[in-house]
Amino acid sequence: MNRSEIMLKKILIAADGSETSMRAAKMAVGIGKTTGALVTAVYVVDVQRLAQLPGYASMPGLKDNLMELMFKEGGEALEEIEDMARDAGVAYERVIAEGDPGEELLKLCRDPGFDLIVLGTIGKSGLARFLIGSVAEKVVRHSHVPVLVVPVKDKE
Ligand SMILES: Nc1ncnc2c1ncn2[C@@H]1O[C@H](COP(=O)(O)OP(=O)(O)OP(=O)(O)O)[C@@H](O)[C@H]1O
Ligand SMILES: [Mg+2]
Repeated sequence: MNRSEIMLKKILIAADGSETSMRAAKMAVGIGKTTGALVTAVYVVDVQRLAQLPGYASMPGLKDNLMELMFKEGGEALEEIEDMARDAGVAYERVIAEGDPGEELLKLCRDPGFDLIVLGTIGKSGLARFLIGSVAEKVVRHSHVPVLVVPVKDKE
């Protein structure tokens, strides 16, 4: 291997269904195409956030309904990225995890071991007053692999 070359074998893309994460996915697939890396998209079902909703404990069935919606949202996002990867001829794999999104993403980076993680600056909450969302911030702070954080829009 040439000394200036880097090896990218596995790229992790964090997808929460937001437009920004889809921009990030496009970038990840593009990098996969150039490097020949496998692209894995992951959606994390955020169970803890559900538990903080008002009425969560008192309304039977609410949890199941919301979980179902999240699995559906995840499935759709991961399928959209699968289409992108197929069009680009990039090897693709999908994962749905459950738990705290930041923790799960960091865990996945360690084991089975990714070379790069790609995510958006903001996600579903997308509060413009924050520069970067809490999940993205956690990953940037604690990741042991390079992190590519894709902004909302290109600068004009
Ligand atoms: N549940 C999730 N599963 C997979 N990736 C996620 C998830 N949540 C966030 N991400 C990734 O992190 C990026 C930033 O989202 P983040 O959640 O940090 O911001 P936010 O939703 O705007 O704010 P917050 O969640 O802190 O209220 C998203 O574009 C996506 O790439
Ligand atoms: Mg979020």
